[in-house]
Order: sequence, then structure tokens, then C-alpha cells
Amino acid sequence: MTDKYAVIGNPIAHSKSPQIHKMFAEQTGQDISYEAILAPLDGFAATVKLLQSEGYKGCNITVPFKFEAFKLSTQLSHQADIAQSVNTLKLNFDSDVIFGDNTDGTGLVNDFRFNLGVTLNNARVLLMGAGGAASGIVQPLGQQGAIITIANRTADKARVLASTPPFIKPNPQYDSARKNYTGSLRGCGYDELTNQQFDVVINATSTGLSDEMPPLPPGIFAPGALAYDLMYGRETPFMKFALAQGVSKDRITDGLGMLVEQAAESFFIWRGVRPKTTPVIAALRNQQ
Ligand code: ATR
Repeated sequence: MTDKYAVIGNPIAHSKSPQIHKMFAEQTGQDISYEAILAPLDGFAATVKLLQSEGYKGCNITVPFKFEAFKLSTQLSHQADIAQSVNTLKLNFDSDVIFGDNTDGTGLVNDFRFNLGVTLNNARVLLMGAGGAASGIVQPLGQQGAIITIANRTADKARVLASTPPFIKPNPQYDSARKNYTGSLRGCGYDELTNQQFDVVINATSTGLSDEMPPLPPGIFAPGALAYDLMYGRETPFMKFALAQGVSKDRITDGLGMLVEQAAESFFIWRGVRPKTTPVIAALRNQQ
């Protein structure tokens, strides 16, 4: 019998997830269906419950429902618990258990490691933004030993994010993650970045949506630096800025690789099979 999956968001028409999971299913021989579902802004929980009652096995969650998915989950992965954000739900028809996980950070780290050849250990990483997108990726970057600076327009939010669990909270649940953490983390405003250089600069703000640019000072990119925008499907002002600042074209990238990698992690959670991502990324790049 075909197992049913879906991605829930609002808006959702633009989502590439159905196409990605169809390619994963073909590649691995898994018998699944996967569709995009538009949930009303005030109807996320009702939508999930309906899918659960109809026997759906899982969903991906996208904007603006990741925090609601976190609250709706009855069991959480460590990663989702830290990020307070869920992008993957595992559902059970015959029980009320809703398992929530967050594969965004692992997706980004896997894109760095396996597709872009970036070593994060001891890399000076500038993470721009302190909202939902940024909070999901801080911990996985930290676990790779990155030296992280979070910069945000509202500097206090960056400082709060830099001091959230598992980095300082004295909770035994986080101890194992703290042991793994070899890098460092601080939060600041953009005005504190003058005269600093970074090996990896990640745009996790929502500026790409409005064709705006975070107020980065010039000279921020170290020689050979990577400029990474979490947005995909268009050249953002940040990507144009990086090019103008001398970053080579092959070191400027959008978030398509992360999108496919986070989907592969979700697929693994649901199906126990890890699909190959390289051919899927290549197929999607060919469509751009
Ligand atoms: P998301 O879920 O995409 O992270 P969010 O939680 O609303 O969305 O966070 C948006 C992020 O983009 C925030 O860090 C925001 O900065 P503030 O916390 O100061 O609002 C950042 N952002 C949005 N517009 C920006 C702009 N024009 N310049 C710099 N940062 C911006």
C-alpha cells in the first residue's frame, strides 16, 4: 500500500518538496505519495489532525508553521527541542503520538560537508539573523566546531540566541551536546563587525524576500570565503554583494543544496533509507 506524506505551509504552491520526495522515492524504490497542502493560517493543528486521521505517515512543515509544529509535537528530537522549531513530523494512525524533528541544521551542515567541501571545524562563521531560520542551524554548526558570530539588526536577539541552550543552560539533557561543542558563539549587532573577516557568511535573515540587504560592512569576506544564502531560486542582494566584494562565483551559493539535504534527512526519518542527494540537486539546478 502506498504510504502518504505531505508538506504543509502557507503559501505552499512554490514548494519543491513534492518533486524532491518523488525523486527520492523513485531512486530508492519506496512506495510513497507526497503532496503540498495549504493550511489556513489559523488551521495548522486541525490540518495535521485531519491528515493523521486519514492515515498519513508524516509531513514536512514550512513557513509559517514550524513553531506551531514544535508546540503540537508530543515527542521531540533533541535537535527540535533546542531549535524550538519542527520541520518534520512523524504520525501514527493508531496513536496520538506526534514525533517532531528538525532536519534544517543537519541539512545545512551536510550541504557544507558533502556538496561544498567546507570544513566547519575552527572556521570563522558569520550567521546573519536571529529568527526562526537562524535558531534551527546554530547548534549543528556549533557541533562541527565552528567559531560562530551571530549578527542581527536587533542585536539583543542575537545575544539571546547566542546564550540559549545547549550552550549555557544548566540542564542535564543538554550535557552531551555541550561536550561535543568545541567552537565558540557570540551575538552582536552589524556595527560590531567592522574590521572582522569570516570564512563562511550565512544569510539566515528574511531580507532576500524583500530584495533587501543586511547592513554588512565591506571587507567582511576572508580570502576564499563562502557566501551562503538560505533562500533558493533567486540571486539575492546578499549574493550580489558577495560577488561585488570579490567572492568568487563558485563560492556563492543559494540554499537549494540545504533544501534537498534536509529533505533527505526527513526521508530517512520516515523510511529508514537514505537517498542520494547529488543527482536530485543536479536535476533541480538544471531547471533553474
Ligand atoms: P525566519 O523564520 O525566516 O527566520 P523571522 O523569524 O521573522 O523569519 O526572522 C527574520 C530575521 O531577518 C530576523 O533576524 C530579522 O531581524 P530582526 O530580528 O532585527 O527583525 C531579519 N531581518 C529582516 N529584515 C531585515 C533587514 N532589512 N535587515 C536586516 N535584518 C533583517
